[in-house]
Amino acid sequence: HGPELVSPTGTPTGEPEGSRAQAGDYLTTAQGGRLADTNHSLKAGRRGPTLLQDHHLREKITHFDHERIPERVVHARGAGAHGVFESYGTGTGLSKAGFLAAGVETPVFVRFSTVVGSRGSADAVRDTRGFAVKFYTDEGTFDLVGNNIPVFFIQDAIKFPDVVHAAKPHPDREIPQAQSAHDTFWDFVSLHTEAQAHTIWFMADRGIPRSFRMMEGFGVHTFRLINEEGKSTLVKFHWKPAQGVHSLVWEEAQIVNGMDPDFHRRDLADAIESGNYPSWELGVQVFPDTDDEMFEGIDLLDPTKFVPEELAPVQMLGRMTLNANPKNYFAEVEQVAFHPGHLVPGIDVTNDPLLQGRLFSYLDTQISRLGGPNFGQLPINRPHAPVNDMLRDGMHQSADYIGVAPYKPNSLDGGCPFHAGADAGAFIDFPQPVESAAKVRANPASFSDHYSQATLFYRSLSATEQAHVVEAYTFELGKCYEQVIRERQLAALANIDAGLCSEVATGLGLSAPEPEQEPTSEATSPAVSQIGGTWPVA
Ligand code: HEM
Repeated sequence: HGPELVSPTGTPTGEPEGSRAQAGDYLTTAQGGRLADTNHSLKAGRRGPTLLQDHHLREKITHFDHERIPERVVHARGAGAHGVFESYGTGTGLSKAGFLAAGVETPVFVRFSTVVGSRGSADAVRDTRGFAVKFYTDEGTFDLVGNNIPVFFIQDAIKFPDVVHAAKPHPDREIPQAQSAHDTFWDFVSLHTEAQAHTIWFMADRGIPRSFRMMEGFGVHTFRLINEEGKSTLVKFHWKPAQGVHSLVWEEAQIVNGMDPDFHRRDLADAIESGNYPSWELGVQVFPDTDDEMFEGIDLLDPTKFVPEELAPVQMLGRMTLNANPKNYFAEVEQVAFHPGHLVPGIDVTNDPLLQGRLFSYLDTQISRLGGPNFGQLPINRPHAPVNDMLRDGMHQSADYIGVAPYKPNSLDGGCPFHAGADAGAFIDFPQPVESAAKVRANPASFSDHYSQATLFYRSLSATEQAHVVEAYTFELGKCYEQVIRERQLAALANIDAGLCSEVATGLGLSAPEPEQEPTSEATSPAVSQIGGTWPVA
């Protein structure tokens, strides 16, 4: 392109706004000045020294010096794709969300990820996988920021920094990079026994998926749908892959990680490039919105519990198909910013204490990761609905805000009184009554059962799958240095299944402990002995 082909905004004609394709007849500086040479720095004579005056050299190296941004504090390693969600219309009685109406097609962007490993870690490790979907709806962006396992490690967001610090590499040696074979991880999950339910899911085959395309996804928390009549229903979101659910076995994963650490990233990109588009159905388990927020004895606000599909079948709402790879990994996959608080009318949160903490965490971390508060203006994060906000200025502001009065109502910028049509199409928080109670730092009693669902899950597996679980615990615990931690985790396994416990104990050369009479609960846990001292579990 010559200069005459460049639009007034600096974007080459035919390219998306703001894009800088490396194409054209000549190279320019970042200011658009034409360059004669990018391969030789400006020197005093052929043998130098190099001159400080060389602006092109300084611009090129300075930009390079600042190329990296912080990786995500969790879920640093991922792969993404664009696609479309087509609604069946079956959800309209439950939710007034426009994108769930019959036949509506909504663009989506999905990012799959591991949780613990750094940005450059291997794909086929034993870990939970993130499954985050951004729906660019006409009513604003809705993010469903889920995982491939239906339950979570902890019940209260205040423990999230702790569980992540325990799972990340040890601070002294920075190992292991991306697996759960270490002391702090097993120390945490054996002391904070609510983590046992999640842990057994990824000690099983789902911890090493065959492909991102072959994973289920779960919203984990209970959400609330609100229909046109204002009726609220509690739901859990599910993604069901048309490709089926498949896993690698451990030995395959070791070979894959050695030979192709990008295995999952490559698999997703290759499938889409060849036109073999992966798809998932989105569905919900539906529960009546009762005062106690329980269903069949399961506390719907406890994110370490799932509801068996035999008790509440998944009702399908639509289909998502991934049909385009990102053009630029950094711009799209690295800079995408999901948030569980990105909601649309008809979908709301519940009081799940883990979800409540997430509502704070994501925006906060993204301000640091993406360099200030304006990352919502990046192309991948821009809503497809019109934006008319009163935010101003800040690092990396690129919007030309016009008008003088960023407050409502105002009498200077003309029209748009704040409340005009507020309940026509606006998000209205569901007016759930809040119980009158004393402020406490405590869980409901219904959060105290830490084992029965781990038992239910383990006993639902086939003999081969159970053997994989035994091998996984034996391998991972075998990597712990501290005997006391191995023994404490064996005590937790005894509460899940005596056979599982005794087989892992045999593999570790230890004797199997007896199960506790009462399941561990925060109310009943005795002090546990710990390396270098004792402290209570709760
Ligand atoms: C990413 C916090 C629980 C799914 C993240 C990030 C943070 C975070 C800080 C990095 C975000 C970024 O830099 O853009 C938390 C906290 C949690 C929590 C505080 C609990 C208190 C969960 C749960 C799920 C989940 C329960 C699944 C249901 C994800 C996913 C990502 C993520 C999928 C990656 C998003 C992406 O691909 O960019 N989380 N998280 N997190 N989290 Fe959570």
